[in-house]
Amino acid sequence: VVTPVNAGVSSVRHAAAHRRSIRAFSADPVPRADMESILRTTGMAPSAFNLQPWRFVVVQSPDRIAALVDAAYGQRQVASAPAVIVLYTDTADAIATVDEVLHPDLTPERRERARASAQRALADMPDAEREEWGARQAYIALGYLLLAAEDHGYHTSPMLGFDAGSVKALLNLPAHVHVPALVAIGHGSEEGRPHHRHPIDRIVRFA
Ligand SMILES: Cc1cc2nc3c(=O)[nH]c(=O)nc-3n(C[C@H](O)[C@H](O)[C@H](O)COP(=O)(O)O)c2cc1C
Repeated sequence: VVTPVNAGVSSVRHAAAHRRSIRAFSADPVPRADMESILRTTGMAPSAFNLQPWRFVVVQSPDRIAALVDAAYGQRQVASAPAVIVLYTDTADAIATVDEVLHPDLTPERRERARASAQRALADMPDAEREEWGARQAYIALGYLLLAAEDHGYHTSPMLGFDAGSVKALLNLPAHVHVPALVAIGHGSEEGRPHHRHPIDRIVRFA
């Protein structure tokens, strides 16, 4: 039995218990080192075939954030945020660069098999299915991102309410990518609402 490295350390529990959506931010910027640390943790999320199809654009320029407000139907959390993370997926890039993500410990034969099964799984998928596949992986990363930001002392607001075409045009993203979420991030200037969640016996059955 291998003991998990962080057994007994409660930082994930703490972050999950304390994070909440915050929709108003102070103007304090998010230093690049913090942003990189948060996104490094985010990138540790697992994904099918380890393909890691998630990509991020960190938007900090006031002009671009103003344009994102329009793309996000005027949502106030975008207007006051010092930064907005655009989470998008590029499954075409992921599959074309699969060599980068095959584990270096694999033998040449296993490497070839892993490459073939990853490419087979995605190659024949219709576009809509591929979009869905990418989004499934991306939402795992989104969960990591929200907890990592909280752990670094930042507040966040995840969003699905935006026009993806406008976001892609604003950031010159290629036509084939998809945008599963935006995340406003910064230091909150409001308390937000405490969690209101189902109790465990409402959502869990031990069988
Ligand atoms: C994928 C996703 C999309 C969301 N989209 C929006 C959104 O567009 N606008 C918004 O105000 N809140 C949005 N939310 C925030 C949810 O309303 C919020 O997470 C939920 O009510 C629970 O509250 P809490 O985050 O404060 O715990 C989104 C949350 C998630 C996870």
